[in-house]
Amino acid sequence: MPQTMRERNALPIGVFDSGLGGLTVVRAIRDLLPAERLIYLGDTARVPYGTRSPETVLRYAKACTKVIVQEGIKALVLACNTVSAVALDWLRAEFDVPVLGVIEPGARTAVSATKTGHVGVLATHRTVASGAYPRAIASLNSRIEIRQQAAPLLVPLIEEGWIEGDVPTLVVRRYLESLLVDTRIDTIVLGCTHYPLLKPLIEKEASTLVKHKVLVVDSATQAAQELADFLRERQLSCPDDARGDLEVRLTDRPAQFAEIAARFLGEHLEPDRIVTILIDV
Ligand code: DGL
Repeated sequence: MPQTMRERNALPIGVFDSGLGGLTVVRAIRDLLPAERLIYLGDTARVPYGTRSPETVLRYAKACTKVIVQEGIKALVLACNTVSAVALDWLRAEFDVPVLGVIEPGARTAVSATKTGHVGVLATHRTVASGAYPRAIASLNSRIEIRQQAAPLLVPLIEEGWIEGDVPTLVVRRYLESLLVDTRIDTIVLGCTHYPLLKPLIEKEASTLVKHKVLVVDSATQAAQELADFLRERQLSCPDDARGDLEVRLTDRPAQFAEIAARFLGEHLEPDRIVTILIDV
């Protein structure tokens, strides 16, 4: 247990995701808060969460949160949209550590970006079914019209590194047709850790499908900003002389995990920073 404020503030921030995609959020946090220590937990043994029932997502999230909280963290960021959508309130009530999700930051970004008041959400099946984005957007501005589209094929495509070319283009086009055609949607929020890697393609395809400009936003930058604000307000920011660090815990080492991780993080991860841990659920 930290004895002093300095010791407490020097504790790492936990970042939890269903797999490796949450490293897009780590990247945004490291850009904004380079001196903070981060411990990332990716449940690579059980990913994807986005197709599973709420009960299963909750069970997995609970087991993983227990493990990362035991590391001694000063705050936990749920980088995973599916976990944020299904388990945020529950984890906040259950664990004695501040827990921040990514849905509200994503909703806030979309609400401030839209001019027509029509917002589209692309997310996993589970996030769409939870209604978390429509609820979060409506709580910020009840006049905004929201349309959602589950885009389950995008996660495996991105993990394979297929982020351009004919196959991803066709898949993105299909999803965007359902989301955009005959609507006034001018802002799409990417409600999944993986989708930011397809942002250029989504922007390009949106511009071929509809005549008006469509802005594509994600929650990572805003989530990092809200974490920074939270740490400052609670006087939890790391000491001035702190040196940033990233440690990665994975529940499995799937094929090509190092390449996939680098894609999301935007930099190579040294093997000695990755530890495999077993979590029973
Ligand atoms: N991390 C998940 C999310 O943001 C995507 C991958 C999964 O389905 O587990 O919803």
